[in-house]
Amino acid sequence: MIALKRVNKSFDDGQSYAVRDLSFEIAEGETLILLGSSGCGKTTTLKMINRLIEPTSGEILVDGRDVLDRDRIELRRSIGYVFQGIGLFPHMTVEQNISILPRLLGWSEQKRRRRAQELLELVGLDPAQYAGRYPDELSGGQQQRIGVGRALATNPAYLLMDEPFGALDAVTRDGLQQELLGLKQRLNKTIVFVTHDIFEALTLGDRIAVLHEGRLEQLGTKQEVVRTPASEFVRDLFAKPAEQLSIFEDLR
Ligand SMILES: Nc1ncnc2c1ncn2[C@@H]1O[C@H](COP(=O)(O)OP(=O)(O)OP(=O)(O)O)[C@@H](O)[C@H]1O
Ligand SMILES: [Mg+2]
Repeated sequence: MIALKRVNKSFDDGQSYAVRDLSFEIAEGETLILLGSSGCGKTTTLKMINRLIEPTSGEILVDGRDVLDRDRIELRRSIGYVFQGIGLFPHMTVEQNISILPRLLGWSEQKRRRRAQELLELVGLDPAQYAGRYPDELSGGQQQRIGVGRALATNPAYLLMDEPFGALDAVTRDGLQQELLGLKQRLNKTIVFVTHDIFEALTLGDRIAVLHEGRLEQLGTKQEVVRTPASEFVRDLFAKPAEQLSIFEDLR
């Protein structure tokens, strides 16, 4: 379980807040979407969960323990992280990129290699063809798959995904979203997924947390946020897509 309790984050000694009084809990096996526009604090929130950023105040618990009391490496072994943008190291092969955390943890070369092969198969890439390639020899969608494979390397219980399909065309993106739903069912991960795309949020989320200027506007199921918006901001956010959806209905 992941829980945030009244978390604040200021990067400028309290003059402004990237995250303000944020509290929520994520249940085991759940996919929670952090939805909001650019600069609303999504990445900051995600990074605080695995301690890449430390909160100014408040508490973040993973498995009932404050992340600030935990060893960073041990914490990151239990939390896979897919970075915003692509985040692969250009001078490392696919296999080396996937094996970064296993190497840090001291796995033998044989174990690392076997795991890299499993992971490539899991994300739908033939290991024989792709393990030795460099990131610039892959398409954008293939690079995103490697990013997901890398996050799964140590079979973490939690997966934090920061706009992992953000830069992709609609068709590739749809495909990867469906694959993620399949993976989630097979692997039973608890996922926090960041996006600014309302359709992606509705497709992937068990619950959706709407953030606005660092604050939580509403947290609820898709039915709740669409049918009973807690604020004008949430209503407006979902009004436009609802209009678009009704246009699609008319086209049928
Ligand atoms: N290291 C930092 N130093 C100073 N300010 C920061 C830092 N990181 C983030 N911020 C500020 O905190 C706010 C929230 O940033 P954050 O990256 O969390 O937004 P985001 O919701 O992920 O946006 P995007 O959708 O554009 O990725 C922004 O105003 C940003 O400028
Ligand atoms: Mg971000």
